[in-house]
Amino acid sequence: MPSPRRSPKAALVTGATSGIGQAFAEILPPETDLLLTGRDTAALATLARDLARPGRRVETLAADLAEPAGIEAVRQAAEGFGIDLLINNAGLGRFGRVVDNPAEAERAMVAVNVMAPLVLTRALLPGMLDRAKTSHGRAGVIVVASVVGFGPIAYFTTYAATKAFDLHFAAGLAAELKGEPVDVLALCPGTTETRFFERSGAPMRAAHSAARVAREGLGALGRRSVHVVGGGNRILTGLLRLTPLRLLAAGTAWSLRRRA
Ligand SMILES: NC(=O)c1ccc[n+]([C@@H]2O[C@H](COP(=O)([O-])OP(=O)(O)OC[C@H]3O[C@@H](n4cnc5c(N)ncnc54)[C@H](OP(=O)(O)O)[C@@H]3O)[C@@H](O)[C@H]2O)c1
Repeated sequence: MPSPRRSPKAALVTGATSGIGQAFAEILPPETDLLLTGRDTAALATLARDLARPGRRVETLAADLAEPAGIEAVRQAAEGFGIDLLINNAGLGRFGRVVDNPAEAERAMVAVNVMAPLVLTRALLPGMLDRAKTSHGRAGVIVVASVVGFGPIAYFTTYAATKAFDLHFAAGLAAELKGEPVDVLALCPGTTETRFFERSGAPMRAAHSAARVAREGLGALGRRSVHVVGGGNRILTGLLRLTPLRLLAAGTAWSLRRRA
């Protein structure tokens, strides 16, 4: 059994204003400094106030990760903050046929769910590795993927494709960096109680709390490179892996068509 990780010194949580990201911010150890991002400035101000502790730095940054300038602003803030834990959590979905969804919503999904974690991870990892080597510690990277990343989901097509990227990106990165002082995790929640469904319009019922997802994510970091939340979801993703893509796409189209 691997030894438990030391508390992170400083963490960046993207999408901390709600749901799973907020749960990560709330359960990180009180000695961990926090850099929290999102677009909702009122929620960021509330988090900064609620999570302040004596001797702890809590900084917030309002930035739109659908835009390159927003990703760059977060990168710059994180470079200055000296993070050793990067939680790529911000994300959005859009239920419906690709041809019917607003083109901007489809683009934003790829920008926030794919480009932001890719650009931030690529930019911040070298510094995180250097600091880990100097301090004889370990860095950590969590990419919040999803069980839908295990196969094509009709009517959630672009979202599922972005989550396939997140899953494969984190799993590949973990293998590339084996032997380096960093743990990388693809965290794959199933349906979780957050604002995601109200925002995406997806007709699904939440099974797990955001707190459970965040707790399992921090617990799995350093123990495995892919963690699926919940026993039922582990069986489901095992079956998805064995099913031909064509059948999965057709099956989800059949079951979700009347709800689109
Ligand atoms: N809920 C689920 O069932 C579920 C299942 C599997 C995976 N996930 C993944 O979990 C992650 C967190 O989602 P959630 O369920 O916690 O949903 P949520 O409650 O809607 O939270 C999404 C977070 O992402 C941020 N965000 C969205 N668009 C953004 C943008 N353009 N720029 C900057 N930040 C942006 C939001 O911040 P602002 O509103 O302040 O912009 C918010 O903090 C996502 O990656 C999602 O794909 C969710």
